[in-house]
Amino acid sequence: PNLQMEMEDVGGLRRGNCRAKGAAPGFKVAILGAAGGIGQPLAMLMKMKPLVSVLHLYDVVNTPGVTADISHMDTGAVAQLEDALTGMDLVIIPAGVPRKPGMTRDDLFNINAGIVKTLCEAIAKCCPNAIVNLISNPVNSTVPIAAEVFKKAGTFDPKRLLGVTMLDVVRANTFVAEVLGLDPRDVDVPVVGGHAGVTILPLLSQVKPACSFTNKEIDYLTDRIQNGGTEVVEAKAGAGSATLSMAYAAVKFADACLRSLRGDAGVVECAFVASQVTELPFFASKVRLGRGGVEEIYPLGPLNEYERVGLDKAKKELAASIQKGVSFIRK
Ligand code: NAD
Ligand code: LMR
Repeated sequence: PNLQMEMEDVGGLRRGNCRAKGAAPGFKVAILGAAGGIGQPLAMLMKMKPLVSVLHLYDVVNTPGVTADISHMDTGAVAQLEDALTGMDLVIIPAGVPRKPGMTRDDLFNINAGIVKTLCEAIAKCCPNAIVNLISNPVNSTVPIAAEVFKKAGTFDPKRLLGVTMLDVVRANTFVAEVLGLDPRDVDVPVVGGHAGVTILPLLSQVKPACSFTNKEIDYLTDRIQNGGTEVVEAKAGAGSATLSMAYAAVKFADACLRSLRGDAGVVECAFVASQVTELPFFASKVRLGRGGVEEIYPLGPLNEYERVGLDKAKKELAASIQKGVSFIRK
C-alpha cells in the first residue's frame, strides 16, 4: 500500500515534520488503522506516553483529521502521517473490520486476512526490524499470516511479532477482582492459548495473589473471560466491538514493549507468539520482553484437571485457525 502520505494531504501539518523542540528522546511508533474505533483512542493514549517521541498515524480514511486533532495535544510526542512506517521502532495494527452480533472472529478472516497481509508486506519493506503488535482479528490466524509474509520477505524474527491478547488479561483481572472483592490492579491472571472463545484459557489456579474459587466461580469466570468480547459486541448491538478497553489494553501492552526496548528488566506479559510451549507453532503465554522483543517464553506451569481439559479444547481450535492463516499465504 502507499503508506507514504503526501505532504499536500496534511497542509498545515508541514511544520510538524520535525521533532518538537525540547521533546524527550523516545521511540517511533506507527498505528495502522489509526482512524478506527480502537485506533483513535489508541492514538490519543500513545500521544500521552513519555516514551513515544514520534507517532505516525495511518489509515485508508480520515487520517488527516485524526492526525490534526491529536497533534494539538500539548504532550511531548509529535504526531504526523507521512512516511508511516520508515524508521519505526514499534508498529501497532488495529486495522480491519470488527464483529457484529452473531459473528465469530473467524467470520472476519476473509476481509482482515488481506488487510494484514498488505500491511505486513509494507512493514517487511520499510521497517523490518520493528516490533509488531497485531490486534486485528482473528488474531489466531492473523499472526500466522504476518509470520508467513515476513518469512516470504526474509525478515521474520519470531521475537518481534506479538499478537495482542492483553484485553483477555485485562478482563480476567477485572472479573476475578470482582469475585474476590479486590482492587483489579492488585490481581494478576495468566491467560494463555489464543484470542477466540475456547482458545482463551484463563489459568485461575495461578492467580496472584494466591486464592481459591468454588467450581461455580470457576465456571462463571472462565465463561465470562472467554466471552468478554461477545458481551461487548452484543451490548453495542451492531455498532462494533470493544474499542475503549482494547485501546487501553493495547497501550498497556505497547508501553511494556517500549519499556523493554529501553532496557527495563523483568517486563513480563501474556502474548500470542511463535512458541514451543506446546506442539503448536503459535501459542499465547507469559513472555519476558527485552530489547529484541520476546526474550523468553515461560512454560504454562502446573495445570489442574479443569485447565488440562480446557487446554485440549483450545489446542484443537487453535491448530485449525493457525493452519488457515498459514494456508492463506502459502496457497
Ligand atoms: P473499526 O472499523 O472501527 O476501525 C478499523 C480501521 O481500520 C478503520 O478506520 C479502517 O479504515 C481501517 N483500515 C481498514 N483497512 C485498512 C488498511 N488496509 N490500512 C489501514 N487501515 C485500514 O474497527 P475497530 O473496532 O477499531 O477494530 C479493529 C480490529 O481490531 C477488528 O478486526 C477487531 O476485531 C479487532 N479487535 C481485536 C481485539 C484484540 O483483543 N486483539 C480487541 C478488539 C478488536
Ligand atoms: C474482543 O475480545 O473484544 C475482540 O476480539 C473483539 C471481538 O470481536 O470480540
